[in-house]
Amino acid sequence: MSFRTTASVDYVEDVSPGRGALPPRAWYASSDAKSLSLNGSWRFRLSATADGEDDSFAGEGYDPVAWAEVTVPGHWVLQGDGAFGSPIYTNHLYPFPVDPPHVPTENPTGDHLRVFDLPDDWPTEDDGGAVLRFDGVESCARVWLNGTELGEFKGSRLPHEFAVGQLLKPAGNVLAVRVHQWSAGSYLEDQDQWWLPGIFRDVTLLHRPAGAAGDFFVHASYDHTTGEGTLRVDSDVDGRVSVPGLDIDVATGEQVTVAVEPWSAETPKLYDGELVTAGERVPLRIGFRTVALEDGLIKVNGKAILFKGVNRHEWHPEQGRALDLETMREDVLLMKRHNLNAVRTSHYPPHPAFLDLCDEYGLWVIDECDLETHGFTEQGWRDNPVDDDRWTPALLDRAARMVERDKNHPSVVFWSLGNEAGTGRGLTAMAEWIHGRDSSRLVHYEGDWNCRDTDVYSRMYASHEEVERIGQGLDGGAGKRRELPFIQCEYGHAMGNGPGGIADYQRIFEAHDRLQGGFIWEWIDHGIKHPELGYAYGGDFGEELHDGNFVCDGLIFPDRTPSPGLVEYKKVIEPVRIEGDVADGTVRVTNAYDFADLSHLEFEFSYQVDGLPTGAHTLTVPPLAPGESAEVKLPAAVPDGNGDDVQWTVRALLAADTAWGSMGHEVAWGQETVTPRTAVTVAASQRPVPGERLLITLGPATFDARSGRPTTICGLDVTGLRLDVWRATTDNDDGASWQDDTRYGVLWRKLGLHRMQHRLDAVELADDALTVRTRVAPAAAEVGLRTVYRWTSDGTRVKLTVSVTPEGHWTVPLPRLGVRFGLPADAAQEVLYFGGGGEAYPDTRAASMLGQWLPSIDALHTPYVRPQENGARADVRWAELGGLRVEGDPEFWFSARRWTNEQLDAARHLTDLTPGDTLWINLDHGQHGIGSQSCGPGPLPQYFLKAEPTEFSFVFSTTG
Ligand code: GAL
Repeated sequence: MSFRTTASVDYVEDVSPGRGALPPRAWYASSDAKSLSLNGSWRFRLSATADGEDDSFAGEGYDPVAWAEVTVPGHWVLQGDGAFGSPIYTNHLYPFPVDPPHVPTENPTGDHLRVFDLPDDWPTEDDGGAVLRFDGVESCARVWLNGTELGEFKGSRLPHEFAVGQLLKPAGNVLAVRVHQWSAGSYLEDQDQWWLPGIFRDVTLLHRPAGAAGDFFVHASYDHTTGEGTLRVDSDVDGRVSVPGLDIDVATGEQVTVAVEPWSAETPKLYDGELVTAGERVPLRIGFRTVALEDGLIKVNGKAILFKGVNRHEWHPEQGRALDLETMREDVLLMKRHNLNAVRTSHYPPHPAFLDLCDEYGLWVIDECDLETHGFTEQGWRDNPVDDDRWTPALLDRAARMVERDKNHPSVVFWSLGNEAGTGRGLTAMAEWIHGRDSSRLVHYEGDWNCRDTDVYSRMYASHEEVERIGQGLDGGAGKRRELPFIQCEYGHAMGNGPGGIADYQRIFEAHDRLQGGFIWEWIDHGIKHPELGYAYGGDFGEELHDGNFVCDGLIFPDRTPSPGLVEYKKVIEPVRIEGDVADGTVRVTNAYDFADLSHLEFEFSYQVDGLPTGAHTLTVPPLAPGESAEVKLPAAVPDGNGDDVQWTVRALLAADTAWGSMGHEVAWGQETVTPRTAVTVAASQRPVPGERLLITLGPATFDARSGRPTTICGLDVTGLRLDVWRATTDNDDGASWQDDTRYGVLWRKLGLHRMQHRLDAVELADDALTVRTRVAPAAAEVGLRTVYRWTSDGTRVKLTVSVTPEGHWTVPLPRLGVRFGLPADAAQEVLYFGGGGEAYPDTRAASMLGQWLPSIDALHTPYVRPQENGARADVRWAELGGLRVEGDPEFWFSARRWTNEQLDAARHLTDLTPGDTLWINLDHGQHGIGSQSCGPGPLPQYFLKAEPTEFSFVFSTTG
């Protein structure tokens, strides 16, 4: 055996998919053929260039004495405490010059070595062969076994297999893998995510017995008119197919039709079966379902479906895209428990085990190919690989590796060509090949609005107005598109606080048949766990080019804790609608599932007075079929609220344990106010009394005579009470850099709303009130807010009425409007309040359920990876903390935090926030909406906080 002294690395920049790998086939775990996982600790050596080392390490007898170790699956840049380089985050910019297919000379290259023995019971060579499978390597790998080169490949998130049977020895097998971070393949993998080289999915040695199954295709359709399923398993190797639960035992290739229960995301019925060839038994999990484009609609089993989906990248804050099974299961369980019914595997085929979980628990899947060339947009899409025939074999290879690997999953209903790759002949070739290979599913691609190659009109971040127009068929467009259903493959950009406005989208989706739902962008924040920063984002590793925290835009935080955005989405897409008719004491329950009836739910009903339930009752709701509604009489008389408000709440709960949720898990709820409260009144019977040390006393409060600001209220020290209009701008306030029209976060700062000056005009004492007149305005601007604070008291309580009159020409809404003040840090550890539970803003308040809540002050803080405005509670009637009770007229927004809004605004990471000696309280009359402008449209006009004459009050008293 001979080795070159300088390794040839031409293959790195070769546009072909590679050499030496076996043709793609279905991915399955055999029942009886042996396999050996080669995951674990591997020896590792990093070179700065692709040709930094020769290939002698691949030969037998090489001693990697000075080599480090890495764990496979894994990314080397996330191991070795920085010794192996670091991650790079860019959204769409290539972090290297765009000169396809060339890549930088500086091309981190990881040599991986693993020596392994075969288990004692591994069959001998006469008993068949063996295959070495790589499930994912980023971005290009060259492989040797026992000194023989097997080949090289690209296509990071796709499997590659090599025949190795003739090379194996009982002991001391040397597997050598050279992985290059950059390759021609990198041009096809410009997804918005971290660039993370490495062998990040499993490496497995599979015994292939003589007569083993090869590739096979399970065709399992369902005829909703007859209730019958038709099964045919086409197999490269002949054998028999049995499904004991259906009394099926047929030859491969033979078709059989029997009565079955169909598979759907809501009713994921799988039949266990088996494919038996001469040399192998392969377990099958068969779901019968038929996907069709019919009457301009996506139908499954004869019914139009509504996607309530999310875009899922694979992410773990320590392991990157190397996910273990339990993490994948956690994702699926979280999705099911939050009412999601669909996933788009943005923007590459996931680990195959994830699709098994989707089959099992029930999720519709858009399986997306590992293809994105977004960076070419910077040059007007010139030289785009998807429109250059030289790259077409690589594109077809990627399409085939996805389809062949995943074709036996009932959950997959769409193949997606990729993401943000412009348009071109390569995409058309992929679509044609896919349509030819699998006529049982539809094809998706967002990048071509004329839908030349697709079966659905798909868009991302279209505004509510445009979606409504598309729903009405008023969007024009080419002939073919007009006939197609519509989905938003991305909407509701969940970066930081938000997304706002998703309830409004849902109403539009549900109003028009053509609109078949959407997929929130995205599932999880890709924050990387970091010793000093908490979670790192773009720029934290000193990248030359980066896109900051745009990589943290998920519905769950990096540690998989649900963010308020997920709680909101759960409510918005709940599969049961519960609406009340207060006047005649009935509740209307509607089944919003596409397939399931309501027999798996039970309904609980209760009244609450002043936010406290008065006892629970069962509500008997018929097992409504999908789409049906019923009016149900409320089972108890309205209690007397005695001036407090009264609501009823109806909850739909799982009646028994399911695969994904326990009995009692809340699926949906509705709430209505039956009797509104009467607002508290305070007789202005007290006179403000000037006293010693320039203090004025009014009932239970004292004031500084010069500033007119309270110094104590009900015995509690109070500092800095004043009007507040600023909020630490959210990612959605700041908007995306390419949207320069109405990015209010930017306009607010430009106007100076974060540095308002408070001019004192007068402190007036009258018989019945202390009145403080001010003007609040930013330097250098004509606009201002005339603000009058009027304090009155009945002796035990003190009331503050704030009147705000805008002056000048306001062209922007306000971030917030209310008062803020400080209390001593130790005044309170928790707050008891009656209002909406959980974080809410004007367009993210669907899930805000009225009740009495007792969160700790710390729990009021939502840990967005980049700190920003958070934690407001909506519809607060009253709040008690530190012995102080505040009642609002009207209801108000409550926030409390251990730092100021300015400190929150300045923080880049959570670790920048440290509690000070003051607990800051905001009592807001209004908040501006959140919207989705970090990538999509801003808040709808109805959620704007306009600068207009306003008056609101708070009554302060001692609790108890
Ligand atoms: C889309 C893209 C996603 C992501 C998102 C913004 O354009 O498809 O990958 O970049 O915008 O977060």
